[in-house]
Amino acid sequence: MSGEAQPLLRSEESGQRNYAHDDSEFAAAEQRAHALRIRSIVWAVLGVVFVVGVVFALVAPGHLRDHGWSGQLPRDPDLAAQRLLDSAPVIDGHIDLPEVVRFGWRNNVSDVPLDGKMPTHVDIARLTEGKVGGFFWSVYVSCADSSDEGKDFLNATWRVRDTLEQIDVAKGLIEKYPDTFSYALSSEDVKQSISQGKIASLLGVEGGHQLGNSISVLRQYYALGVRYVTLTHMCHNAFADSAGFLIQIPPLHYGLSPFGFKLIEEMNRIGMLVDLSHTSDMTATQAILHSKAPVIWSHSSARAVHNVARNVPDEVLSLVGTGEGQKDGVVMVNFAPYFIAPEGKANVKTVADHIDHIAKVAGKKHVGIGSDYDGIGSTPEGLEDVSKYPALIAELYRRGWDKFELAGLTGGNVLRVFAGAEKVARDLQTAGTPVVYDIYDKREDLPVKREL
Ligand SMILES: *[C@@H]1O[C@H](CO)[C@@H](O)[C@H](O)[C@H]1NC(C)=O
Ligand SMILES: *[C@@H]1O[C@H](CO)[C@@H](O)[C@H](O)[C@H]1NC(C)=O
Ligand SMILES: [Zn+2]
Repeated sequence: MSGEAQPLLRSEESGQRNYAHDDSEFAAAEQRAHALRIRSIVWAVLGVVFVVGVVFALVAPGHLRDHGWSGQLPRDPDLAAQRLLDSAPVIDGHIDLPEVVRFGWRNNVSDVPLDGKMPTHVDIARLTEGKVGGFFWSVYVSCADSSDEGKDFLNATWRVRDTLEQIDVAKGLIEKYPDTFSYALSSEDVKQSISQGKIASLLGVEGGHQLGNSISVLRQYYALGVRYVTLTHMCHNAFADSAGFLIQIPPLHYGLSPFGFKLIEEMNRIGMLVDLSHTSDMTATQAILHSKAPVIWSHSSARAVHNVARNVPDEVLSLVGTGEGQKDGVVMVNFAPYFIAPEGKANVKTVADHIDHIAKVAGKKHVGIGSDYDGIGSTPEGLEDVSKYPALIAELYRRGWDKFELAGLTGGNVLRVFAGAEKVARDLQTAGTPVVYDIYDKREDLPVKREL
C-alpha cells in the first residue's frame, strides 16, 4: 500500500473529510497514520514471534532442552548425560591404577604411558572422555598368605612396605601429569580441582591387613595423604572380619575385634573415612553403629540384586540414611561382573539395577560409583573402561533420575559424606579427644609395662 493513497482512502472510507483542502491538517494526519502503521507492523511481528515461541515451547519443549535453552537436561539421554557430567563429573570411589603399575611396570612410573593408550581400563584420554572429575587411587596390596602370617597376624609380611610403595606410585603419577591430576586431601580440595578442570586424586588403603596391626601406621598413612581405609580385604585381620569373596567365610571376631573398635575411634578423630567394602555383615553393622562419622562403601553393590557375600545386604543398607538410628553414608557401586549378575549378564542395565536398588532401600542420596576399574579382569558390556560412565548416567536418566539425583550419584553424595567425616574429626579434636595409643594385645615385642 502506497503512503500517499492511505489518508485519502481513509477519508474516502470515512467520507467525512477531504484532507487535501487543509495542508497542515493533512500533514499531521499523515504523520499519525504513519506512526500507527509502524506500530501495527511492530505489534504484528512481535505477535508472530510470541505465537511461534509459545507453539514451539508447547509442542516441542524438548528442543529447547536439547539446545540448552532451558535449565532442564536435554530429552535425549546421551545428550543429557554429557550435559550433566559437564557440571557434575564422576568421582569414583575405587580405581586400582597403582596396582597395574606395580605388576605391569615394576612400579617404574617414568615408563607408564598414561598419556597414551594403556592396555587396561584407565588412561588420560579415556578419563577425559568419561568426564571423570576425581577418583580414589587404591594403594592396594593383597592379603598375606595366612600360613605365613600366622593365626594372630603377627609374622612380618612386607605389607606396610608395599603399601608405602603404592602410595609412592600414585603420587608419582599424579605429579607426572600435573595438567591432568591434582592431589587432593579434603572435600574442598576436590571441589577446587574440579573447578580448575583437573582430576582430583585421593588415596585409599584397601584393607586393615595393610596397617601392620598398628594404629600408629593409620595416623602416618593419613599424614601421607590417605583418606580412607577399608577395614578388611578378603582376609580377616587383627581389627575386623572380612566377607570373603563370593561366599561368606566363617567369622573370627564376630565383627570387629576390641582393637577394631579403637581403630574406628581413631579414624573418626583424624578424619580417615571408614570404608566398609569387603567387610562381613557383622563388621559393617558394628562399624556403622560405632562410627561417629558417616561411612562409605568405596566399591560394593547390592546383595538383593545379585547374591554374593561381597555385596551389601538390605539389612545393612537399611542402617544407612539420616533417619532415627541411621548413619549417613554412600554405597559406591562396583562394576565387577561377578558381583553384578549371573555369568554373561552384566551390562549397563544390570549395573543400573544395583544403583536403583540401593537408592530404593537407602535413598538416592546414599549411592555412588566405585567401579573397581583396573582391579577387575572383566567388565560389564557397555562399561568397558573409564570412558563409559556417560552410558550409565544415560541409562539412569532414562529411568527417571533427575539432574540433582544424578549429580549426587556421580559425586555429590560422596563429597557430602567426606565433608561430614571432616566435620566429625574437627569436632572431636576441638573437644580434646585423646589420641588412641592402644597396642594390639597379641604383640609381644613391646613389654607390657616396664619398671623404670
Ligand atoms: C624406567 O623407565 C624409563 C623410561 O622408559 C627408563 O628410561 C628407565 O631405565 C626405567 N628404569 C628402570 C629402573 O627400569
Ligand atoms: C608365623 O607365626 C607362627 C606363630 O603364629 C609361627 O609358628 C610360624 O613359624 C611363623 N611363620 C613364619 C614363616 O615365620
Ligand atoms: Zn576391592
